[in-house]
This record gives sequence, structure tokens and C-alpha cells, in this order.
Amino acid sequence: MGQSATAIETTYASETQGSREQFERDRKSMPGGAKGAYYYAPYPITMQRGEGCYLYDIDERRRVDFANHHTGQILGHNNAAVHAAVEAQLTRGIALGAPTGAEGALAEEMCRRVASLEKVRFCNSGTEASLHAIRLARGFSGRPKIAKLEGGYHGSHDLVEVSVAPPVDKAGPAEEPYSVPTAGGMSPNAASEVIVLPFNNEEALERLVRRHRDELACVILDPKTGILPVRKEYIQAVRRVTEENDVLLVLDEVVAFRVARGGAQEHYGISPDLTTFGKLVGGGFPVGAFGGRADIMNLFDSSGEPTGFFQSGTFSAHAVVMAAGLATLQQLTPSAFEHMNGLGERLRAGLEDLSARISTPLQAVVLGSLFSVYFTDEPLVDYRSLAGNNGAMAHRVFLSLLNQGYFLSQGLSMNALSLPMENEHIDGLVQAFERAVEESSQ
Ligand SMILES: Cc1ncc(COP(=O)(O)O)c(C=O)c1O
Repeated sequence: MGQSATAIETTYASETQGSREQFERDRKSMPGGAKGAYYYAPYPITMQRGEGCYLYDIDERRRVDFANHHTGQILGHNNAAVHAAVEAQLTRGIALGAPTGAEGALAEEMCRRVASLEKVRFCNSGTEASLHAIRLARGFSGRPKIAKLEGGYHGSHDLVEVSVAPPVDKAGPAEEPYSVPTAGGMSPNAASEVIVLPFNNEEALERLVRRHRDELACVILDPKTGILPVRKEYIQAVRRVTEENDVLLVLDEVVAFRVARGGAQEHYGISPDLTTFGKLVGGGFPVGAFGGRADIMNLFDSSGEPTGFFQSGTFSAHAVVMAAGLATLQQLTPSAFEHMNGLGERLRAGLEDLSARISTPLQAVVLGSLFSVYFTDEPLVDYRSLAGNNGAMAHRVFLSLLNQGYFLSQGLSMNALSLPMENEHIDGLVQAFERAVEESSQ
């Protein structure tokens, strides 16, 4: 017999007192205590340290980390080779204001792995990567607008903050969504520069891209769009339709790069014109990268005639970050992907089996080592089909999992495995889900 929903909160409160005190202190000097993405009710857990696939909070409670720093910590925590590479770079200096060779080494490694990547540039975040890739696409094509998927997230600059999470009743027809600004303070022009496409809908894709082709610089696509079930045929259709209409394709692999050695583009068998990266590419440090076709990327080559294009940033291609990123990629061998993606399949099977045994509607979406869990019966095809997800249930389950020693992303919608995990961590999580759902349903 499990606990009731309020008992879940009582247990949480009694076991996380240090975190509550930290939160109360922090909120006096920072709005909401810390960055918005870290907040969940009643207050977030403050972490003290990480080791392998475990996190330890300031009350010294250990949890298995299935959030992995917004999916970026693919090697888990305190990885010895990453630490050694960082320390080696630190002894040479922190910021030298010149090329150090570290960025060249990471660029070569990325170009070796990703077939469409002829040249690459580094920046400090996935947000910057999409900003520069889009600016480049506009400049190269001479066209002003972009198209993006409803529900797709590509960072926090104005253009891509359109229709990230629109209220469904204000989002217009499903087959031709309105452009809806996501955040207060955005430029009033942003929405008018974005064509919004419904995910997984080939007919709408063909119609809208063809209609707007003369004003469209690019389509930007996160191949998993939040994390929804992906049909390979749809991803391939986006490539075909953009090519047929002479519109550039920018593939957002900020998260999806963890799906395969050559990225999601290898997994889906497509070759985008430009790709954006972030997260794991910096080995746990702030990073972004974007690259692709040499004829486009060479607009940043300032060694010859001025091209009118420029990309910089005080901390772009920071040597310590580059060293950590390279040490991370070097450990992501084919067998590392086989291990993690195998664990992903085990998790899928475990959660599907659980779903079949319980009366609460539960759907697991797994892509490689990424997964989301939703509480809805509705078939998951696009952003709008998530409207029926029982968010209150997801929150109770999330807190119960914390109580049981499992740290997932709040909302349960963007979780990730890490290389140090083994079968026992997956099986333990499935069991914890069963108990969490039982407790949350009472
Ligand atoms: C698919 C995707 N693209 C871009 C970004 C933005 O990256 P950053 O948070 O580094 O700016 C994110 C962040 O979560 C993301 O999930």
C-alpha cells in the first residue's frame, strides 16, 4: 500500500529540508530562487555533487540522475577523462584571447562524425547557435522568414520563441497554426517572420513551404520536437520538401546529437544544410556550435574579401570548454551508443509493460537514450496532442520518484540516460514508476 498524494509532499518536505532553506535564502536575491527552468513546486532540490550516474543533494540523499543536466551529461558526473582534459587545459591558462588548437581539435572530431558537417563554428549556447545559423541562412538566401514546428524549442532569442508552447485555444487551425509569441517583451515583429508548421503532417509541410518559398530562408527542425514519437518518413519529407523548394534546412541537434555517433541525421538518413549543436559538445560547460555546407559557412571566412558576415563572442570556443567537449566525444564510441540505446530499449519495454498493467493512461516516448513520459490516452502525434497530458499527475509522480531516489526532469518530458548506467538503474526506475503512479492515483 503506497502513500496518498499529500503524503508524497509530506515525505518530500521532511527529506529535503536543506533544499528548502537554500531556496528561501536564494529567492531573496534571485527572482524565483534560481533560473526558471530549475523551479518546481514546492521548491527545487539543491544538489551538492555528482558521481557517475548519481547526484547527491545538500541533505546527502543520493538519487539516480535521469535528467543529466538538461540531457547534456551523457557521461554522467565526474568523468575522469573529462576532468583530466580540463585540468590539462587549465594549467596552460584559462582564457588566452587567441586560437589555442583546442577548438580545431573539436571541430575536426565533429566533422569526422557528422557527414553533413564540412565546417563548424563555436559559440556559448544552443540559443546562440540557432541565432547565428538562422542569420546565416537569411543572409545566404536573401529571404527574411523562417519556418519552425509548433512546439519546437530552439533557444530563447525572439525568432525561435514563437509557438513554443501556445495555448491550444489561441493557436489557430491545427493544419495551419498561428504564429504565437511565447514570452513577454518579444519584438512585435517576431511572430510575423515565422511560419509555423504542425509536426508530423506532410500535407501541411508541402503546402506551407510551397506557399512561402519565396520568402523562406530556412526551416529549422528539432528532429524530436520536444520529445514526441518521430516518424522517419516525416523527417525525410522535411528534407525533400525543403530541397524541392530551394529552402535551407537547419537541423537542431542541440539535444538529438546524443542519439547516434553521427547525430540524429545519421539515424534518420538525411543531410541538412546547417546543423546546430550544444549541450554534450561542451562536456558539461556552456557551449553551442553550428556548421554544415562549406559554401554557406565560408561566409564567415574573413581571410579574403569582406563577405559582410561576422560571428564572434568573448567566450566563444573557450579552450577549457573545447577540451571537455573533445574528451567527451572521444568516449562516445559505437559501443557506448549501443550500450545507452540498448538501455533505452529496455526502458521502453519496461514502461510499455507497466502501462499495459495499470489503469492510469501512461505513454513512454523513447528515442535512443532520450525519453519522456506522458499521462494521456491521446495518440501522441504533434504538439497539440500533448494538451491532454495530466500535468498534475506528472508532478506528483515526479515528486514521488524524487522521494524514491530518482531525479528526472520536472514534467517528466525530457529525460536522458548516461553511459555509467546499467540494467539495474533502468529496472529500478520502472519499479519506482509503478509505485509513483500508485501513490499519485490515491
Ligand atoms: C532542441 C534545443 N535547441 C536549442 C536549445 C537551446 O540551448 P541553450 O539552452 O544552450 O541555449 C535547447 C535547450 O534546451 C534545446 O533543447
